[in-house]
Amino acid sequence: MKLSQKMQNLPTQFFATLVRKVGKAVAEGRDVINLGQGNPDQPTPNHIVKALQKSVEDPVTHKYSPFRGLAELKEAMADFYKREYQVEIDPEKEIAILFGTKIGLVELPMAILNPGDMMLLPDPGYPDYLSGVTLADAHYETIPLLAEDGFLPNYDKLPTPIKEKAKLLYLNYPNNPTGAVADLAFFEKTVALAKEYDIAVSHDFAYGAIGFDGQKPISFLQAEGAKDVGIEMYTLSKTYNMAGWRVGFAVGNSTMIEAINLIQDHLFVSLFPAVQHAAIAALSESQDCVSELVALYEGRRNALMEECHRIGWDVAAPQGSFFAWLPVAAGFTSEAFADLLLEKADVAVAPGNGFGKFGEGYVRVGLLVEEERLREAVRRIEKLNLF
Ligand SMILES: Cc1ncc(COP(=O)(O)O)c(C=O)c1O
Repeated sequence: MKLSQKMQNLPTQFFATLVRKVGKAVAEGRDVINLGQGNPDQPTPNHIVKALQKSVEDPVTHKYSPFRGLAELKEAMADFYKREYQVEIDPEKEIAILFGTKIGLVELPMAILNPGDMMLLPDPGYPDYLSGVTLADAHYETIPLLAEDGFLPNYDKLPTPIKEKAKLLYLNYPNNPTGAVADLAFFEKTVALAKEYDIAVSHDFAYGAIGFDGQKPISFLQAEGAKDVGIEMYTLSKTYNMAGWRVGFAVGNSTMIEAINLIQDHLFVSLFPAVQHAAIAALSESQDCVSELVALYEGRRNALMEECHRIGWDVAAPQGSFFAWLPVAAGFTSEAFADLLLEKADVAVAPGNGFGKFGEGYVRVGLLVEEERLREAVRRIEKLNLF
């Protein structure tokens, strides 16, 4: 049987190759330090696990959830935005509960674009954005994220015909893969662009909790008028180490939220109610676990930067997310450099070109192993005498 044309058009998973290469090295018995992936290494805080355990024992949670999720969860999400970002949200009209933000990012183009419509994606960017483009029969143009612009899109350099054609813009700060953060002025410029050219905006706030040096990343919805043009996608995966639980939400513009809720009425019956109760605990109870997690990542970041500078590797410190975006040694492509580190140093990193053509010249390193393993990774790289 042949798969549908749409399935055949789906992008190939670039990082499947990396996973295969690392798997092979590990199977050979090599002690690989894997810095290539984005899976949080810490467990979910205990009070959240306990909330799930308690909830799952109540047979009410064994039934179907309301189609669009529990009202208490949407209220907890709205309260979270009020408490953390001073943004007022109507829980009924301005929140869509998601099975993690990946699904929201993939279904949004299907919900608001027509075949042939064009959307704007950041380059480098999170590869799964492309899946949504294909499933919507849409197409895309990229906006380069360059070091000289602080890895923020420079809208002035974007040709006017592209701005006129674009229907949807994806942004992501703190940024995967560059570790850059956005400021309010940038989000205000984004709202102005969106209003002038009638572009819907979706800000992927997956790393919203993770800002370094005392800087709390800001929400897109804090920019005046943001709700008129867009939404934000927030996930519990990173903030509370709940990647396997699959909980996130979209928040903001009520028309876009309704579009997501509508497509989801046809695809799902919301999340397992016990997971929804655990999500309420995560968002509402003590947030000490979040500050402890950020401190842990910041310690790892500092250790990595210290070691890289010690060996003469000219790297810039990420301001947020749990990734560092490191330039490759002179004379290498991203892929050749990543292959060399794996083959000769047993260190796995993600080649930057997997995130788009402007990712060439970089590798992405995850801060998702213990500090000592990060130091050890750089000591191994030091032996290759590349810097
Ligand atoms: C930039 C970005 N957006 C979205 C996601 C998806 O997160 P989830 O589907 O777990 O909410 C990830 C996960 O790695 C990510 O890095």
